[in-house]
Amino acid sequence: MKTITIRRPDDWHLHLRDGAVMEGVIGDTSRHFARAIIMPNLVPPVVTTADAQAYRQRIMEVLPEGHRFQPLMTLYLTEHTQADDVEEGKRSGLITAVKLYPAGATTNSHGGVRDLDKVMPVLERMAAIGLPLCVHGEVTTPEVDIFDREAVFIETVLDPLRRRLPELKVTMEHVTTKEGIDYIKSAPANLAGSITTHHLIINRNAILVGGIRPHYYCLPVAKREHHRLALRAAATSGDPRFFLGTDSAPHVDPSKECGCGCAGIYTSPNTMSCLAHVFEQENALDRLEAFVSLNGPAWYGLAPNEETMTLVKHDEQAHFPAKRETGAGDITIFDPMFPLHWAVAD
Ligand code: NCD
Ligand code: ZN
Repeated sequence: MKTITIRRPDDWHLHLRDGAVMEGVIGDTSRHFARAIIMPNLVPPVVTTADAQAYRQRIMEVLPEGHRFQPLMTLYLTEHTQADDVEEGKRSGLITAVKLYPAGATTNSHGGVRDLDKVMPVLERMAAIGLPLCVHGEVTTPEVDIFDREAVFIETVLDPLRRRLPELKVTMEHVTTKEGIDYIKSAPANLAGSITTHHLIINRNAILVGGIRPHYYCLPVAKREHHRLALRAAATSGDPRFFLGTDSAPHVDPSKECGCGCAGIYTSPNTMSCLAHVFEQENALDRLEAFVSLNGPAWYGLAPNEETMTLVKHDEQAHFPAKRETGAGDITIFDPMFPLHWAVAD
């Protein structure tokens, strides 16, 4: 039996939602992960430090007994965000990052940013106080093909912004393209990228071949195979600029299986099993810890977790339920389309 012991991992991009969905899904993260950056795209979004404080409290109230988990809160950047409020959030220790959603880019992003000029005062303050900006890196211009949105964002939005404000620390979240990987590698030390579990496993065929498969649809949408291979190489390289952000994004099944389904893949329950499989395939099990437990905390200026996690490769298949049942309805769990043999030891 093969085993590997690593420091307990963290998730640097997670959607917990609220209410009954949050109650149903939180244990899937807190069972394995010590900390997670919590996305603020609720309805209405988490905009102010007071909103984040209240949301944090709601998270702590539904945390299963005995689980040790620290939610790292973010603010949803709008054109009305106040720099003083953001600074106060950081100073109080509550706020770990601010999230930039270009308006209309993804689920619940209509209140996001249309005009970057309007948020420059906030970004300047963040640069001054060393608070990272987490970026959903896609343009929303209708002329741009959805598969090109990330590459065009880098060229027309992110690079100009970083030239304008070189001190700003930026996390390019859920990188999905070779262009994204190359851009991060070419940049100075204040740019890093998170990579999801599912983008290491699927390419765009998963969504479209043999029928339309809504549970593989997420944003940024999965790209061609050569992009997936670039993501795999980066994630398993040990390069400290790349770390795990699962982007686990639960939607109840009726919201995915319909004429206009929501974007988002729910990966929290089996993410660690999937990642052990991927890293083993790449002969990089010795670098799994860097990707899931070391690079992220180093980037966010935090200490790695002291606790450890052991993963065991069993001869028989590890079984995960197909769905997570919640008070709001069933949520389909990511199916990597290969048998999983790695499991987290209890
Ligand atoms: C996320 C969601 O459902 O909130 N969806 C997704 O496809 N990843 C939003 C996001 O992170 O883009
Ligand atoms: Zn997300």
